Amino acid sequence: MRKKGTFEGDVYYPSNDVINQANVREFDKLYQMSIENRDGFWAEQANELEWYKKWDKVLDDSKKPFYKWFTGAKTNIVQNAIDRHLKTWRRNKIAIIWEGEPGDFRTFSYHALNREVCKFSNVLKSMGVRKGEIVTIYMPQIPELVIAMLACAKIGAAHSVVYGGFSVEALAERIEDANSKVLITADGGFRRGKPTNLKGIANEAIKRSPTIEVCICVKRTGEECFMENDRDFWYHDLMGLPIANAKCDTEVMDAEDMLFILYTSGTTGRPKGQVHTHGGYGVFTSTTHRMVFDIKDDDRWWCAADPGWITGHSYIVYGPLINGTTIMMYEGAPNHPYPNRWWQMIEKYGITVLYTSPTAIRGLMRFGDAWPARHDISSLRLLGSVGEPINPEAWKWYYKVIGNEKCPIMDTWWQTETGGFMITPLPITPLKPGSATKPFFGNEVAVVDDKGKEVATGEEGILVIKNPWPGMARTIYGDEKLFVDTYWKDFKKQGWYKTGDSARIDKDGYVWVIGRIDDVIKVSGYRLGTAEIESALVSHPDVSEAAAIALPHELKGNAIHSYVILIAGKAGSKELAEELKTHVANEMGPIAKPEDVIFTDSLPKTRSGKIMRRVLKARALGQDEGDLSTLED
Ligand code: WT7
Repeated sequence: MRKKGTFEGDVYYPSNDVINQANVREFDKLYQMSIENRDGFWAEQANELEWYKKWDKVLDDSKKPFYKWFTGAKTNIVQNAIDRHLKTWRRNKIAIIWEGEPGDFRTFSYHALNREVCKFSNVLKSMGVRKGEIVTIYMPQIPELVIAMLACAKIGAAHSVVYGGFSVEALAERIEDANSKVLITADGGFRRGKPTNLKGIANEAIKRSPTIEVCICVKRTGEECFMENDRDFWYHDLMGLPIANAKCDTEVMDAEDMLFILYTSGTTGRPKGQVHTHGGYGVFTSTTHRMVFDIKDDDRWWCAADPGWITGHSYIVYGPLINGTTIMMYEGAPNHPYPNRWWQMIEKYGITVLYTSPTAIRGLMRFGDAWPARHDISSLRLLGSVGEPINPEAWKWYYKVIGNEKCPIMDTWWQTETGGFMITPLPITPLKPGSATKPFFGNEVAVVDDKGKEVATGEEGILVIKNPWPGMARTIYGDEKLFVDTYWKDFKKQGWYKTGDSARIDKDGYVWVIGRIDDVIKVSGYRLGTAEIESALVSHPDVSEAAAIALPHELKGNAIHSYVILIAGKAGSKELAEELKTHVANEMGPIAKPEDVIFTDSLPKTRSGKIMRRVLKARALGQDEGDLSTLED
């Protein structure tokens, strides 16, 4: 029996059982080495993988901030995520355990996963998909989503996955930006007992973004949906045709070739397509996954995120599959039909590591201890958290009730842009609940003022990363200037990456992330841009101007509050407020639905016309409004 960890004051120490079996048993010395010889550290990790041809150079920093990793190397992420496992006993290891919300389930060995990926790769090729083009994927959490991503990668096409919870406008915008000719979707998925209508949304989005020539649709719910002749094809029909041959060569790619783009909401209206690569991203995600979550061959790993977000890309799909891990995927809501659903599945499948978000933990905590107590979840040996700072109350519940005081919690700080964990503990690290602890190997971070001067210990400031790392986004798709301006301009002199977060570092060097300092809102751990919400509001015919801000929310971490100026002659009402909320949900997706809509005659603006959201926020919270000298009136 594994022993419990111990607390000394606020610091948690893992038990010897945890330490003695960890993949990495010593931190300080290895960290020091990784800083002194960063290239050496990453070369060593890259040597764990297979390459068609190894690199000439680990890091090429001749065109900062457009860093290149493993230049000259030839690979394909699928070479490591699937192909190399087929040559070993892992061929017959389970790659994916999947459970649908209605209770149906499927499993795929690496052999079976390869077969499906090869078949679908050939389908994509026959549909004219070529190396370098971007395929948009808009799907529920079903195995075909992973198969589609891997098939794109295998033939050298890049994928752009749009989260299945997003709606018409969000999807249309992303299809257009990526100039996708092919869209892969499904009739829908199951969420809280009801089928979602993905194909309906996809049809609307295609109307708004006419680049789509082919739409491949997986039948999941069996609900009726409109299929356009000669444009729309059923996945299963295509997979049954002779073109869906089960043999397909993996395309040889440059390490720096684009693997995928994934859109983040930012300060500008248009979402930014973060570009990730085959080589560096593969090295970074597999290394961080293996070291931080101490991955062993007998693990059953469950990252309970949606593959449509970076968490899913890096830690459901690529990192774990490269490590030959058995991954768990679940389609639906954590509390459907009852709040024991997750605990039931952990017991049923013998899950050993659970990685989720503070918002999910808070959501399940609300139903009390009795639900997990009804299940034997003692197979768990490690826990993880990501997406926003975890509040101590949720941390303690997770630790006590789910982890039985035996499982350290890996609070991992990272971003879509970073590709993988940047600040994170290892299982051996003494933990402080609410802190993501220290930078991962090869990373140096600082908390600075806007001039780049390090602030005093314990003071709040801007979180920066001082060095390049293999998983870093290479650019924003189609907008190098925006890439430079957003992340690299403010600390150009020092060459630091600006994270957009504020944080403080305590006397032990532990990093405490506080939250975003830009116009990004984190709702239930999901990232939304105020600009996108505002433009969704303004797209309603009655709205002339709008502002969106985040206010603290017990369950969601933050919730969206919006302020609206109506066009002349229109009056605010309860009904209109409801209509506007629904309108935003229809355009953007349910996660973007504002908590409330407040009608107003004016918004606080700077003289240059920028909405001062900070003033709105301070007012709403009854706080000091700060410096108002730039306010217009
Ligand atoms: C932002 C990035 C990276 C996976 C999911 C989010 C916040 C993320 C933590 C954490 C405190 C965190 C930051 C960051 N964040 N993890 N462990 N503690 N804050 O990716 O959607 O690109 O959002 O999420 O504010 O900047 P993302």
